[in-house]
Amino acid sequence: MVDIFENRRSVNFFDKTKDISNDLLKKIIERATLAPSAFNLQPWEIIAVRSEEAKQKLFETSNRQPKILEAPVTLIILGDKEGFSENNSSWKVMYDAFKNEESLKNSQNAAAFLYGSTEERKIKFAESNAGLLAMSIMYAVKEQGLDSHPMSGIDFEGIAKAFDIDSSKSVVMTIAIGYHDDSKEIFPRLKRKSFDEIVKIV
Ligand SMILES: Cc1cc2nc3c(=O)[nH]c(=O)nc-3n(C[C@H](O)[C@H](O)[C@H](O)COP(=O)(O)O)c2cc1C
Repeated sequence: MVDIFENRRSVNFFDKTKDISNDLLKKIIERATLAPSAFNLQPWEIIAVRSEEAKQKLFETSNRQPKILEAPVTLIILGDKEGFSENNSSWKVMYDAFKNEESLKNSQNAAAFLYGSTEERKIKFAESNAGLLAMSIMYAVKEQGLDSHPMSGIDFEGIAKAFDIDSSKSVVMTIAIGYHDDSKEIFPRLKRKSFDEIVKIV
């Protein structure tokens, strides 16, 4: 298996001649949805930007980052700020698995309090879960021999408007997906902070 941690890079240049099929995109996304989420609520949605018209809209609302026009697909990752609510179909999945009405109700009440009682909690819920999906997508992409590039240097509000995204959803980031243009070099990977710099053992 390829070492997806060592080999994943944010690739700035995509090969415009190499498309990816919807089947491959589906395989990548389905694999990535094995990511964890609170109560398995999976409060996320994805808009796959593929047509020239949609790419142009995303390009204009993403500080005109050229990779959006070069990559065959760019994903808009959305977090659902209302994903804890009872109409989330994942609650039914939980009920069908455990057949326990009381436990379902307790979980729904807990989720409503933990993730829905303030706007800050709603955003945290939506973006933390969708962020894990985003990372999972980038590793799934690498596993399939493709490359990706996450972006948050984008106009979040502009994207929401251009793609008619409901206000209950948060635009978390976008991820361009495709094959690296081998004729162009990307800069060497920069050193990461050390264990000692980031970990405090208490
Ligand atoms: C949430 C997030 C947002 C990013 N936004 C942008 C962006 O808008 N434009 C860009 O060129 N790179 C962006 N990057 C890429 C980072 O610059 C890159 O991940 C970092 O330099 C480390 O390089 P590597 O991913 O190749 O290891 C973003 C990365 C992350 C995780």
